[in-house]
Amino acid sequence: MGFPQDRPRRTRQSDVWRRMMRETHLTPDAFIYPLFVVPGRAVRHAIESMPGIFQLSVDEVVKDAKAAAAAGVPAVLLFAAPAHKDARATSATDPKGLAAQAIAAIKEACPQLLLWADVCLCGATDHGHCGHVLAHGAIDNDSSIQTLAEVALNYARAGADAVAPSDMMDGRVAAIRARLDAQGHATTPIVSYAAKFASSFYGPFREAAESAPAFGDRRSYQMDPANAREALREVLLDVEEGADLVMVKPAGPYLDVIRQVRDAVRVPVVAYQVSGEFSLIKAAAARGWIDERAAVLETLTGIRRAGADLIISYFAPEVVQWLRA
Ligand code: PBG
Repeated sequence: MGFPQDRPRRTRQSDVWRRMMRETHLTPDAFIYPLFVVPGRAVRHAIESMPGIFQLSVDEVVKDAKAAAAAGVPAVLLFAAPAHKDARATSATDPKGLAAQAIAAIKEACPQLLLWADVCLCGATDHGHCGHVLAHGAIDNDSSIQTLAEVALNYARAGADAVAPSDMMDGRVAAIRARLDAQGHATTPIVSYAAKFASSFYGPFREAAESAPAFGDRRSYQMDPANAREALREVLLDVEEGADLVMVKPAGPYLDVIRQVRDAVRVPVVAYQVSGEFSLIKAAAARGWIDERAAVLETLTGIRRAGADLIISYFAPEVVQWLRA
């Protein structure tokens, strides 16, 4: 068969047809909203490269968490940029540290909102790398994963509903799982940034999280954007180590990876629409070059169609409101 018997346009004739034929749906429960906490009180500092996104002190981050929850966002992902930064990321392992304070405050104000805590060293280290740096500048994997496990335990104790390691060290999921289990947190899930690429799209985030590396780059731990087969290897290793959810990051330029991961594992797949993906749309929309809402929904639908079960997005509160309206 073929034309003229085959006419795919028959089922595209009207809005009701198009709705009925739709294969992919965005649902509010699929969205996670990132929040950035900084020291101080009443701080609401705009991040220039991410219009509408702010660095917030604990009191203010609680307000935005409440607003996100009220809008219908089911979960937030918390990043902390503490004032004190040192070689060992002690602010991140400190039970009175900024992240721990923010976790406790948000959970107290919004007990129903799921709080995922990003686990990394870069926001709390003076060198801005995601692991410990050796004298000659290399990143020391095996000592880093012990510290990352301490960070995860600190956040679980503070009340985090899940810990999300974003460092890309080898073996961190197993180290975190072992530490959590040994300390009474066997029920805290691990959301692993399993296939995280060394991406130019993290630029705006590094302003928000104050986590740009002081020297070098992250290519010795984050993945080469050219590698999909290696992404599957990373994901399968993390699942074996005990990851409850696995993530692909960034999302838009890696839709093929999302699809391959979705087909390879049985755990939920999360995709992170990162800061640069957000800023591109915002910048074009601000110039009137693109319809923001349509572009946002199209990118998110594409990510979902590729196989993402859940999506982390800076557009989350707006999108959830659009979907509920
Ligand atoms: C830090 C981290 C980064 C992001 C999440 N966690 C940046 C990086 O690896 O440099 C990026 C998020 C975004 O760009 O929105 N480990």
